[in-house]
Amino acid sequence: MTKTMLVTGGAGFIGSNFIRFVLKKTGFKGRVINLDKLTYAGLRENLHDIELRFGGKRYFFIKGDICDSKKVNIIIKKYAVSVIVNFAAETHVDRSIHGPKDFIETNINGVFNLLECARANWKDRKDVRFHHISTDEVFGSLVKTGRFTETTPYDPRSPYSASKAASDHLVRAYFHTYGLPVTISNCSNNYGPYQHPEKLIPLALFKAVAGEGIPVYGDGGNTRDWLFVEDHCRAVWLIINKGKAGKTYNVGGNCEKKNLETIKALCLALEKIRPRAKNPALKGRRYEDLITFVKDRPGHDRRYAIDSGKIKKALGWKPLFGFNKGLEATVAWYLVYSAHLKKTVDASYRAWLKKNYTER
Ligand code: NAD
Ligand code: DAU
Repeated sequence: MTKTMLVTGGAGFIGSNFIRFVLKKTGFKGRVINLDKLTYAGLRENLHDIELRFGGKRYFFIKGDICDSKKVNIIIKKYAVSVIVNFAAETHVDRSIHGPKDFIETNINGVFNLLECARANWKDRKDVRFHHISTDEVFGSLVKTGRFTETTPYDPRSPYSASKAASDHLVRAYFHTYGLPVTISNCSNNYGPYQHPEKLIPLALFKAVAGEGIPVYGDGGNTRDWLFVEDHCRAVWLIINKGKAGKTYNVGGNCEKKNLETIKALCLALEKIRPRAKNPALKGRRYEDLITFVKDRPGHDRRYAIDSGKIKKALGWKPLFGFNKGLEATVAWYLVYSAHLKKTVDASYRAWLKKNYTER
């Protein structure tokens, strides 16, 4: 493929992994434009290696907002964009509970704007693709059994998931109404390098290394279906190349874990790579001893689990990283890149964390 791909939100966790994956591991010969607003969650340095190798030739970073129609239109025209992959979003559920406005702005109005720009520039072209990255959270909360399929009715329960659900509906509407060639993927919880340390795994890792309490919401029995980020990137790549326009694909790790299990697995991985005897911050305690139960998240979804049968059958996708292997790779990465991590935790985030954790 020698097209030009516009990746939005490419300075965040999954977007930066996706751009690296596309340019280094797929044989893609075209250009990637990364449009990112650089909110608290985005860091241009997440793609420092890519800028050095491909910058100005096959990789272009543009700071900007997906809500800015003038900018998006110029980019689509100037670079002859024929694929849009939308990762840009406000993504943290806890933040959406404390302040939903940005979620509505970016996740709904921003996606609407991208769709309008795609429609205006692409007219009736069929050799183009608009891929929207979404989440399993749109389906709501499961009880003990069952899994989300592509036909599970939407039942979002947080401002974050409600905003993602709204965007999914808009994307599908543009297929049915205007014939825009769209695809959507609804993925489960990702983990891996470059994730912002507001999310469970890097947050717990950060706290554990510092010998601080690892906050576990409620009884720790909430269940998430974990997927290593590169497996998600490969799924998205397959969908934009081989997926059928108008279709939705669920993507999950078939790796359900209660949060407490996840934290204990993380502590084990950490012990292997940085044994407690070599970490003075632990003062002789085990990593697990740091687990601290805190007040639950309001409306905390109990269980997510994805049925990935469709993408496996239709596109031959399957996850390649087992949980323990992926977790060890993640821990090793964070320990090496701890300086990078410190930079990610900017002053406003520190203040936000302090406020919210003292309230719990
Ligand atoms: P992230 O918070 O790490 O990154 C989001 C990126 O979007 C940041 O770089 C940010 O600067 C950028 N951004 C935010 N608002 C923007 C705007 N208005 N214009 C341009 N850029 C903007 O998020 P992530 O975890 O990488 O998630 C990426 C996408 O994947 C999101 O759509 C999210 O809903 C979805 N998703 C995430 C997970 C997960 O486990 N992290 C799972 C399933 C789906
Ligand atoms: O399921 C996909 C979703 O996964 C994505 O759409 C979201 O963008 C992404 O943030 C993630 O949402 P979660 O709410 O599941 O992720 P988070 O890392 O915030 O929390 C994971 C679980 O751990 C959840 O049950 C809440 C719990 N938790 C989280 C934090 C931050 C804790 O127990 N303690 C914590 O400190």
